[in-house]
Amino acid sequence: MSTKSISNKTKVALVGFGTIGSGVARLLLAEGPRLARAAGIPIELAHVVDPDLKRPRNVTLPEGLLSNDLDRALGDPDVRVVIELIGGTGVAREVVLRALDAGKNVVTANKALVATHGPELFERARRVGRTIAFEAAVAGGLPVIATIGQSLTANRIESIEAILNGTCNFILTHMEQYGLDYADVLAEAQRLGYAEADPTLDVNGADATQKLAILAQMAFGATVDWRDIPRAGIDSIGLSDLLCAEMTGHRIRLIAAARRSPEGIELSVGPTLVPEDAPLADVQGAFNAVSIVGDMAGPIFLQGYGAGQNPTASAVVADVIDTIAGRTAITQAALELWSTPSREPATVRDPATIAGRFYLRVNVQKELDAAAQLSRVLAEHQTPVDSLTQYDDEDSQNLAGIVFLTGQTTEGRIAAAVQQMETLPFVHPEIVRCRVADA
Ligand SMILES: NC(=O)c1ccc[n+]([C@@H]2O[C@H](COP(=O)([O-])OP(=O)(O)OC[C@H]3O[C@@H](n4cnc5c(N)ncnc54)[C@H](OP(=O)(O)O)[C@@H]3O)[C@@H](O)[C@H]2O)c1
Repeated sequence: MSTKSISNKTKVALVGFGTIGSGVARLLLAEGPRLARAAGIPIELAHVVDPDLKRPRNVTLPEGLLSNDLDRALGDPDVRVVIELIGGTGVAREVVLRALDAGKNVVTANKALVATHGPELFERARRVGRTIAFEAAVAGGLPVIATIGQSLTANRIESIEAILNGTCNFILTHMEQYGLDYADVLAEAQRLGYAEADPTLDVNGADATQKLAILAQMAFGATVDWRDIPRAGIDSIGLSDLLCAEMTGHRIRLIAAARRSPEGIELSVGPTLVPEDAPLADVQGAFNAVSIVGDMAGPIFLQGYGAGQNPTASAVVADVIDTIAGRTAITQAALELWSTPSREPATVRDPATIAGRFYLRVNVQKELDAAAQLSRVLAEHQTPVDSLTQYDDEDSQNLAGIVFLTGQTTEGRIAAAVQQMETLPFVHPEIVRCRVADA
């Protein structure tokens, strides 16, 4: 009988000792026995790698753990899991590829990396027989990846509608609650730490779109470059839009949506009028929420912290446990992420053909027949008008706002109508356009 040495613990290496890295280190160090019970084996944090060895963090590491020596961590044969918490798509991509090539499994919270380089990284992981877990990359502490990848596998997912950016939700709900303008609330969000000094990737919808691309891959096998998903941000939304939405029984939220249709998967990210009695309309402040409809389970709603040190560390460490316990390998083999060897590739629908209702706000120089002219443009583009409201601009006697709620039309028709409206001499840029979610 051959004897084989069986290790009595599993080593992990952490690369990137910033906000989330510190939270992960603290959890791994403080909750050893609990995590060992969950993983079935003690987990030892064996290496922490970061270029900055001096900056104080809110965790004290045992002597000798922190270094800037990635080679040492990757060269340690006992390390089974490398946790990438650097962020970005440059160095992080190299670290993940090197870790896989060194025979390590990877856990990451990096949505930009997964959304941009998913196909390459998962192909490499498959080739070397390792896994990449990424729960924290979408909606931080919300277990949305596990819900889709494990709990709903008996279902055909019909749709996902989600609030995936806490900064945008904080801004919109704060404007709504306190009657404040966008710029004032953005400044407040920055002061409170809910928005970055440069909030561009949040408010222009890019962050939510990267997360939606990952969910579309998980739920529908739809491999899509996130840059090809039609996207609009919240930076053009004014207080008047929130008030107009309220008058029609809606609230405006930045919604990332993916829906199965006979013509393919419909994907979009943008400010959306949500019926005020829908669960997504109730989501306040910096919370995230995901509404999933499965053909068997029906609607499922998850809400919680989409960012922050503890919620994100919770998701990262759960991934470490799943990887060690072998669950990640089972899930990834079943999902065939970013590859379709035996799975019919999903068709992503041409955005121009996606049907829906729309909200338009057009600022105009007061003209007797401005509303009639704008309505004619919509009619020319086969877009019915369900309601039209005109209000005077408080700051200028000569300006008015005209708000349309359309009937059923398509993205392509509404885009063409907006383009034509913008050529009219009495129309002021920019026209605000939102989708209207189904009741
Ligand atoms: N913050 C959140 O709430 C949140 C939520 C969900 C997901 N995430 C994701 O989690 C990841 C980490 O975010 P974070 O907020 O913790 O960022 P962070 O605070 O900026 O931490 C990143 C750390 O990585 C270090 N680093 C840079 N280059 C490195 C290298 N070559 N090797 C090792 N370490 C390196 C940085 O050091 P220097 O500072 O010295 O450059 C910094 O300490 C990102 O992908 C982010 O998208 C964050």
